Amino acid sequence: MKFLIVNGVNLNMTGKREPEIYGNRTLEDINNKILSFCKKNNDEVEFFQSNIEGEICTTIQSAKADGIILNAGAYTHYSIAIRDAIASIKIPVIEVHISNVFKREEFRHTSVISEVCKGVICGFSENSYILGIMSFKL
Ligand code: DQA
Repeated sequence: MKFLIVNGVNLNMTGKREPEIYGNRTLEDINNKILSFCKKNNDEVEFFQSNIEGEICTTIQSAKADGIILNAGAYTHYSIAIRDAIASIKIPVIEVHISNVFKREEFRHTSVISEVCKGVICGFSENSYILGIMSFKL
C-alpha cells in the first residue's frame, strides 16, 4: 500500500516546542520511525509538512495514495478549507494527533475535520501515525 503522511501548522517544531506535551522527538525522527515501519511491511510512504493552509489543501487534492494520515495541528479546530479538501477526495483520511486533545483545553475538543475523516487517533505520541497506518491493515 502507499501512504501519505501530512503534517500541518507548527508540526515542524515537534521536538522543540512544548516537549512535555509533544515529546522530544523531532518530526524527522518521527518520519524515520514511520518509514522503517512501512519498509518492514513493504509499504510506500511519502511525507509532507506545511504551515500554509492552502498548501495542505492542494496536497490533499492531488494525493496519490491508498490512505492519508493527517495531523492538521491547530487547523484541525477551525479549517473549513481543509475539511472541504478532505471531502473532495475519495482516498480515506485518518485524523491523528500526538497529544490527547481531549485532556487539554476545551477549544481542542472540537475538530471540524473528524466528520469527513475515516477515523480519529489521538494521544499515542508518534505512534498515533503508526496506528493510523495499521488501521488500513485490519
Ligand atoms: C496536535 C494538537 C493540536 O491541538 C495542536 O494545535 C497541534 C498538535 C497534536 O498532534 O497533538 O499543533 O494536532
